[in-house]
Amino acid sequence: MEAETPSRWRAFFFAWQYLKPYKKAIGIALAALVFTAMVTLSLGQGVRLLIDRGFATESMDQLNRYVLLFLGLVVALAIGTFTRFYWVSWLGERVVADIRQSVFNHLIDLHPGFFESNRGLEIQSRITTDTTLLQSVIGSSLSVALRQIVMSIGGVIWLFITNAKLTLIVVLSVPVVVAPILIFGRRVRKLSRDSQDKVADVGAYVGEVLGQIKTVQAYNHQVHDKRIFGEFVEMAFSVAKKRIVQRGALITVVIVFVLGAMGLMLWVGGGDVIRGEISGGELAAFVFYSMIVGSAFGSISEVIGELQRAAGAAERMVELLAAKNEIQAPIREVEHLPTPISGHLVLENVVYAYPSRPDQPAIQHLSLEVVPGETLALVGPSGAGKSTLFDLLLRFADVDQGQIRLEGHDIRQLDPLELRKCFSLVSQNPSLFFGSIEQNLKYGKPDASQAEMEQAARAAHAHEFINELPNGYQTRLGDLGLGLSGGQKQRLAIARALLANAPILLLDEATSALDAQSEFLVQQALENLMAGRTTLVIAHRLATVKNADRIAVLNQGRLEGLGTHRELVETNALYARLAKLQFDLAGIAN
Ligand SMILES: Nc1ncnc2c1ncn2[C@@H]1O[C@H](COP(=O)(O)OP(=O)(O)OP(=O)(O)O)[C@@H](O)[C@H]1O
Ligand SMILES: [Mg+2]
Repeated sequence: MEAETPSRWRAFFFAWQYLKPYKKAIGIALAALVFTAMVTLSLGQGVRLLIDRGFATESMDQLNRYVLLFLGLVVALAIGTFTRFYWVSWLGERVVADIRQSVFNHLIDLHPGFFESNRGLEIQSRITTDTTLLQSVIGSSLSVALRQIVMSIGGVIWLFITNAKLTLIVVLSVPVVVAPILIFGRRVRKLSRDSQDKVADVGAYVGEVLGQIKTVQAYNHQVHDKRIFGEFVEMAFSVAKKRIVQRGALITVVIVFVLGAMGLMLWVGGGDVIRGEISGGELAAFVFYSMIVGSAFGSISEVIGELQRAAGAAERMVELLAAKNEIQAPIREVEHLPTPISGHLVLENVVYAYPSRPDQPAIQHLSLEVVPGETLALVGPSGAGKSTLFDLLLRFADVDQGQIRLEGHDIRQLDPLELRKCFSLVSQNPSLFFGSIEQNLKYGKPDASQAEMEQAARAAHAHEFINELPNGYQTRLGDLGLGLSGGQKQRLAIARALLANAPILLLDEATSALDAQSEFLVQQALENLMAGRTTLVIAHRLATVKNADRIAVLNQGRLEGLGTHRELVETNALYARLAKLQFDLAGIAN
């Protein structure tokens, strides 16, 4: 428990940072809070007057007066409560909206490697569930706690003013009531956290299985999945069952003790009333205040648990916000590229290992120059490091050794935004987004005109099939471009890159899913585009890259050969073998 203190402070500072801009709202909410607490407390006096002056004197006038007073208090309480509720909830929602935005703004710029070690799903749940928890705390629990503190202090004062002897009974019975609340409350909280975790497991499992439903059914995996899901569900149920028992016990104990104490009080107090030592109204007011104090203690102890959980949630937010972006513009002496750039790339002795495999560099001592305007093909076996090279060019990660230079500038000296503007990428998995085809195509150039967009789509041989879709360019795609064939997705990805029209084109297996006929056509369109533009093409099908100006053969992260198709067939054993396999199989003499 003690070890949590610093983190709780950090959580507090975190929340305060976001609350700070809304001092006015906080002021109004606090004022309303204190006001309603006071009004609630004075209701007790209202009850006393109503009974003693209203009923006891048997005067209709007095009764009217005090009923009116009572109703006045009720109206004041209603207005105050509305104000408090509105502003406190407003604060909760406002602050959480700001937190969500700033966490997202931070995440979207982070280096992609961050999301490999921190699973996207987990981060997603932090942004949704953790912020929701913060919202319920800031937007309600915190105000409940404050209000109850004010009420219990006020209540105890009124109790003493009303009757010191009876107060002693209350003071003595408070620990008896609060102790079980604390004990059972802690157990209930722990169990409810457990059952929330279990429910989250269930959710994650459902998401994964339904997302891959075709694979599940193709392997007849349903029976297995039903059993695993059943286990998750039963686990969640048995935790919930324990929680219900504890919660039920808590309620029972509270009822017995609270009403028992009340009975005791009525017995003692009733005796005093009979003996004429106090009035009936005083006793009623007294019961009223002791109920307020009792329930205040009860809800404070409940809220404490929620505050603790919120502190945990805030802590995780702080962690996310503290994640350092490894890819940044240099703080001083940012270099700038000339416009337009010629597309001159130099890799000098580049070494790069993925952080998860530090002893197995994916790129090893690679040196390579790409001259402006040329088309350079990268070929090599699967896992050779071709896609990794593209990642390094785009600075999704920084090289461990060596240097990559664009127009003579070390790319680490450039602003990543400026660097990435120079590249149009078609990645190995055509990644499309939820939304219309038009939105997907204009991804890299939102202000493109309809004509420009159609021109790019024609060049990528996508225009025809788009026109055949029910809503043409306005057809909406599912998540990740769901609803298109593999080749159609690839053509959209190519059109998107063409429309972005950056000086350097990076094609990673861009035409691999196309049939020979469409590949030929797209290839021709690409060739027009590649003319005068630096292009790097990765392809497994050598027929695709035969006409490149030069071909670089990569193997296990090393450059094994560099030259034209003809040169390599003769000088490079690996390339010759690949070429022989492919062209012999295809029955094409090279
Ligand atoms: N995120 C990653 N974390 C760790 N290792 C990785 C990661 N991505 C790729 N690798 C490894 O780096 C090496 C190079 O991978 P890369 O994706 O660059 O190969 P490739 O040449 O593009 O292969 P392919 O032709 O199959 O696409 C492989 O051994 C691969 O296992
Ligand atoms: Mg690859």
